Amino acid sequence: MKVKNICCIGAGYVGGPTMAVIAQKNPNINVTVVDLNEKRIAAWNDDNLDNLPVYEPGLDAVVGESRGRNLFFSTAVDAAIDAADMIFISVNTPTKTYGVGKGMAADLKYIELCARQIARVSKSDKIIVEKSTLPVRTAEAVKNILDNTGNGVKYQILSNPEFLAEGTAVEDLQAPDRVLIGGEQTPEGLEAIQALVDVYASWVPKAQIITTNLWSSELSKLTANAFLAQRVSSINALSELCEVTGANVDEVANAIGKDSRIGPKFLKASVGFGGSCFQKDILNLVYIAKSYGLDAVADYWEQVIIMNDHQKHRFAANMVRTMYNTVSGKKLAFLGWAFKKDTNDTRESAAIYVADKLIDEQANVVVYDPKVTDQQMYSDLDYLQTRSSEANQNALTVENDPYKALEGAHAIAVLTEWDEFKTYDWQRIYDNMHKPAFVFDGRSLLDKSALEQVGFQVYVIGQ
Ligand code: UDX
Ligand code: UDX
Repeated sequence: MKVKNICCIGAGYVGGPTMAVIAQKNPNINVTVVDLNEKRIAAWNDDNLDNLPVYEPGLDAVVGESRGRNLFFSTAVDAAIDAADMIFISVNTPTKTYGVGKGMAADLKYIELCARQIARVSKSDKIIVEKSTLPVRTAEAVKNILDNTGNGVKYQILSNPEFLAEGTAVEDLQAPDRVLIGGEQTPEGLEAIQALVDVYASWVPKAQIITTNLWSSELSKLTANAFLAQRVSSINALSELCEVTGANVDEVANAIGKDSRIGPKFLKASVGFGGSCFQKDILNLVYIAKSYGLDAVADYWEQVIIMNDHQKHRFAANMVRTMYNTVSGKKLAFLGWAFKKDTNDTRESAAIYVADKLIDEQANVVVYDPKVTDQQMYSDLDYLQTRSSEANQNALTVENDPYKALEGAHAIAVLTEWDEFKTYDWQRIYDNMHKPAFVFDGRSLLDKSALEQVGFQVYVIGQ
């Protein structure tokens, strides 16, 4: 079968960019992205492409090309479901904050709601594509809900995990390392798989499109992220050892990465990994392993998270220790709040945890980030539930001008590797700070010796 109408439920960081690229590369397929959030949809439809709700380099051009032609953003969920022959589910699956599996299992509430909505509205056969990261065997639950509605509509469920990284989403979508499609190994399942293969084959070479059974596909997504996160935790574990032995973690990473069997990627020491996927996917993996009674497997992967938490705490503790064991009443300026450069996404960003710890130490934290809004920063802190919203408002200030953020500060913490930080007038910054002036570079972004020449006392992670 040939797909003519696609609907995507969830206009977030994954759904928005993915559908924009699918529409761009398939001008003959109508793609409608729907979301419950009216403000988000309005932003996707904004005439000014600078106001798209997701910031990704190059996304404005892709949306600009297809929007109104065969790419639509809408809040009319039922109508879009009804019209579609293929429905992507790309809603969020946060870690459960209540009940069984709290802090570990994925909350599938939104997925189930989507399945029920699809079941209620559909009048013709549909292919359902899981785009959200899900614990293994979720497709079974979705299928069960869909098949038990009794209105005779037939569904095929596919798993098509996303591997795009934020900040490079458009690039990753346009030239993916691979596209993974899992489905049932029955004649109908294989036909559904082929329909989705055809959508991607408009621009992705066939050899890069992998098809598997459903469970392999679901598990591959979790474990690809677990492997990547494990590398970051491994190098971060070495960063602490480097600091006490006098080795330099960048040099060590370079030497390790030159071994082609290991390779250079994901070996950059940092204040800790963040983002919507790494922690959530590993926790999912841990939960699945535990639920099968595989405790050693669960503990093994959980250690990746424990190391990551340790790295964030260690960074904050080192700031306090270096500043004579007190930061009470001191202005500490953060450069960056996003979980990495070139995105306005802050989920699980290390900056949130570092700020939380420093606020506990009664510091005045002032933040500058080129793309993150102040409301977002406050809601990130409030989400931790460490203290009241008022207390967070009092402890944290957001500045839109970096020089103003840094003026009169005792220390600067670099928490996101935004390129613009490298271009600042560091002499001018130094002149306007309290002395001794410290820089704590959690991303080993800045030129350490140049900063030292200006007069700063510089700490770089892993050095
Ligand atoms: C989400 C998941 O977090 C991730 O695991 C998965 O791999 C891809 O989808 P993301 O797109 O980054 O990632 O999430 P988010 O930006 O929060 O977007 C989800 C959207 O779904 C939100 O805009 C939300 O309003 C919408 N939504 C959620 C619905 O439209 N309906 C719902 O029932 C629930
Ligand atoms: C990740 C996966 O890479 C992607 O394939 C998946 O589909 C979604 O999750 P993303 O979360 O957007 O993508 O970002 P990624 O580039 O993987 O970085 C995750 C975190 O690790 C960031 O906080 C980043 O700063 C950190 N990181 C990455 C390091 O600290 N060091 C590194 O060497 C690489």
